Amino acid sequence: MNRLDQISLGKIVVIREKLIKAQREGTKIYRFESGDPSFDIHPNVKIAMEKALSENKTHYIPNNGIPELRSALAKKLQNQNKLKIEDKHISVTNGAMHALYVLYQCIIEEGDEVIVPDPMWTEAVENARLAGAKTIGVELKPEYNYVYRASDIEAKITAKTKVIFLNSPQNPTGAIIPKEELQKIADLAVKNNLWLVSDEAYEHVLFAGGVHISIGSLIPDYKKMVSVYSFSKSYAMSGLRLGYFACTDELFNDRAGKILRCTVNGINSVTQWGAIAALNTPEEWTKNMNEQYLKRRDLFLEALAGNGILTPYIPQGAFYLWCKVKDGINVAELSEAMAQAGIGNAPGDCFGEAKSTTQSIRLAFSCSTEMIIEGAEPLRAFLKNYEQ
Ligand SMILES: Cc1ncc(COP(=O)(O)O)c(C=O)c1O
Repeated sequence: MNRLDQISLGKIVVIREKLIKAQREGTKIYRFESGDPSFDIHPNVKIAMEKALSENKTHYIPNNGIPELRSALAKKLQNQNKLKIEDKHISVTNGAMHALYVLYQCIIEEGDEVIVPDPMWTEAVENARLAGAKTIGVELKPEYNYVYRASDIEAKITAKTKVIFLNSPQNPTGAIIPKEELQKIADLAVKNNLWLVSDEAYEHVLFAGGVHISIGSLIPDYKKMVSVYSFSKSYAMSGLRLGYFACTDELFNDRAGKILRCTVNGINSVTQWGAIAALNTPEEWTKNMNEQYLKRRDLFLEALAGNGILTPYIPQGAFYLWCKVKDGINVAELSEAMAQAGIGNAPGDCFGEAKSTTQSIRLAFSCSTEMIIEGAEPLRAFLKNYEQ
């Protein structure tokens, strides 16, 4: 069978298209299914991109990123993430999604096993499968606040395990892995000589005391460590498509260079100049985004207060509300009825197969604050009626 036939087009994509169609036909839709930040990009990013265009910086560029950006990223990774990374260890990609595609192609041999959280944003899992891996889910349990735990990971390690994948803050739960647990996961990888792939796309989306630690900073000399980042969430640059990964293993980087050359051969040059400006975004800008996210989270929590169907996990990072659906309620039917009522959502089976995953639903608060203010009452009314 062709590998691509084992990959879904993405259940959320199907849901999103249905909602957009209803929206186009005039139905009022609250876009709580989508993970696209509502914010505009910082004006300095626009200025830098316009300048790059006017200076005709539109020619072929090095396939792993322009030196100016890689150098700025190395400084960021050293200072903010506390990683022992130099320019030569970094590859610029077409979003973190593409980073995951490239890095798995560099690591995986047919039949290798990759341990992943369940639930997990689908594409992180499917990019491993696309490279020929078998993915092994570790259930994230509500009783442990959805934290990905080293002891549960250890129980899944076999002779075929090649990679432990982690994502914190996490999509879809919003859970942050505490430092002690990160240390245990890092030690586990080192002890078993496994690759660690850390997706840190939400590193800057933090509120209510949430703190991000890069697992790579806990094992600074470990070569089988790949750290993945995105400009989509940190700087609301989702449509500009810019991500990157860093790893100190020479063979890995050699292979990454080959895939980048044979596929995209460098990411849009103008976006890369914009990315340098984005790295200098004033702290106030990020702070304001996070204040809005906190406000949106709390508006959702208020709308859900007292309902008997959805029990939300209260996140301190990312922009998702992962809600446990009351046992006995069919999640597919609930999700469809919510969508019919104009309330976008993503049912748990978009994110995995574990029991608590499929008995959950994800609401996103990356849409505008106004949309959540407007949608709060219809959401409350929907849940009240559904219970009866
Ligand atoms: C955990 C995680 N990683 C990566 C991405 C993709 O980021 P990008 O837009 O940079 O491809 C997403 C997007 O939703 C995500 O949730």
